[in-house]
Amino acid sequence: MTYGEDIKKVLLTNEQIKAKTQEIADQINKDYQGEQLMVVCILRGAVIFMADLFSRLTIDAQMDFMAVSSYGAGTQTTGEVKINKDMTTPIDGKNLLIVEDIIDTGTTLSNLVKLLKTRNPKSIKICSLLDKPERRTVDFDGDYVGFKVPNEFVVGYGLDYDEKYRNLPDVCVLAPHVYSEN
Ligand code: IMP
Ligand code: MG
Repeated sequence: MTYGEDIKKVLLTNEQIKAKTQEIADQINKDYQGEQLMVVCILRGAVIFMADLFSRLTIDAQMDFMAVSSYGAGTQTTGEVKINKDMTTPIDGKNLLIVEDIIDTGTTLSNLVKLLKTRNPKSIKICSLLDKPERRTVDFDGDYVGFKVPNEFVVGYGLDYDEKYRNLPDVCVLAPHVYSEN
């Protein structure tokens, strides 16, 4: 697919993403065989990936949604995650799989995991489509990670810049002029 001048280049094609999503789903189906899994989508960036992944699960799976924002990486305090929308299912004793679009500094997810642990789930694992390891400021890793990406701002396949570009079928590098204009 060809895009306009806001897009610097295509980083991952829809085809590559679909193939990777199947690989991850195969692994999850194996790891949770005979178990129940509560898949929690982190809105809004992960919604497309989550739908693709979820439809490839053959195990006993349920879905729920959360919207969170982080109070920033500069603070020394822990548990600083703001829940903008909470899940509605009780998670006590459940296996949780948190599905995210990208692990960047790691702040949001590490704080979210701390918070969710206080609700006594049986287990918590993290699945992220993308990982930007160069940007990490806290010691945090995903359990299922699709692709490592370089330290560039990416959009598409659910990921946004200023709520735009989520509907691009591929993961693309945003042209720097888009964010330097603001
Ligand atoms: P973290 O707490 O720094 O790991 O923040 C992760 C969140 O920042 C993700 O859920 C995304 O919403 C957002 N984010 C980080 N990097 C990018 C990017 O390159 N494109 C789009 N969103 C990003
Ligand atoms: Mg996000």
